[in-house]
Amino acid sequence: MITVYSPATIGNISVGFDTLGLAISPIDNSYFGDIVIIKKCKTFKLKNIGKFSKKLPKILEKNVVWKCWKYFCKKINKKVPMSIILKKNMPIGSGLGSSACSISASLFAMNEFCKNPLSKNELLILMGKLEGKISGNIHFDNVAPCFLGGLQIILQKNNIISQSIPFFQNWIWVIAWPGTKISTLQSRKILPKKYNKQTCIDHSRNLAGFIHASYSMQENLAIKFLKDKIAEPYRIKIIPKFLKTKKIIKKIGAIGFGISGSGPTIFSICNSIKIAKNVSIWLSKNYLKNKKGFVKICKVNNTGTIKIR
Ligand code: HSE
Repeated sequence: MITVYSPATIGNISVGFDTLGLAISPIDNSYFGDIVIIKKCKTFKLKNIGKFSKKLPKILEKNVVWKCWKYFCKKINKKVPMSIILKKNMPIGSGLGSSACSISASLFAMNEFCKNPLSKNELLILMGKLEGKISGNIHFDNVAPCFLGGLQIILQKNNIISQSIPFFQNWIWVIAWPGTKISTLQSRKILPKKYNKQTCIDHSRNLAGFIHASYSMQENLAIKFLKDKIAEPYRIKIIPKFLKTKKIIKKIGAIGFGISGSGPTIFSICNSIKIAKNVSIWLSKNYLKNKKGFVKICKVNNTGTIKIR
């Protein structure tokens, strides 16, 4: 039996649309991601359990784990029977890389179960393909950090998909999911097809500046570049009270604020636990729309997808 855990992720991190992604874990070290368990079996079996399993499609062929199995078997040229349990702990359509979590945990577990026929890079490429099938475009900013951990820059240059970059160890990431859903597909449709020259220049400067500041460990400079010219101006209309919330969170003391992936989860960056707790209290009282919503104080997850049993 193999049990695999995959962490939640924040895609884009404002400045890196489709090119930056971060794996996160709650500071209390609790699990915050999906779990996949694989056992030997004579046929293919899939059981969904966990807090958000009721939201998964009822038809087997529409389940992302089934799709992973189909693509994995095709890739290794062998139909391997197995019994899979998906513990769906991540809310679907939350902007926390829920599908990436299931994809990464499933493919990693399947590969382990079959004694690792695919290399790490082959697995990552397959993960991106599957993510693309769900959200409409191949983007690795959730699957790469989910699989590899840490802060990842997505390069997609020939076979070099993603590389780890340094991050500020003192940054605390407070994430708030209001309890509502936004599909990545829809959230991508509202973005313009073309951007003007000045926007492209500003965006390149911000991303290059952020990467430079991360490598040279200049925290204040990095924060100055943490701006979203590509998605946030268009997505704020589907995220309730975004600008008002941003203003208040900054006033409480957060140094950074943005949309996690395609939303509606938002993230705040704090450089003290006291501020992180105050931000968390305010968001819990004011940002959540229903009882399912949550706020979590997180740090960077450095391990990515791992075998836990
Ligand atoms: N980078 C993608 C987007 C996926 O913003 O649409 C985020 O989860």
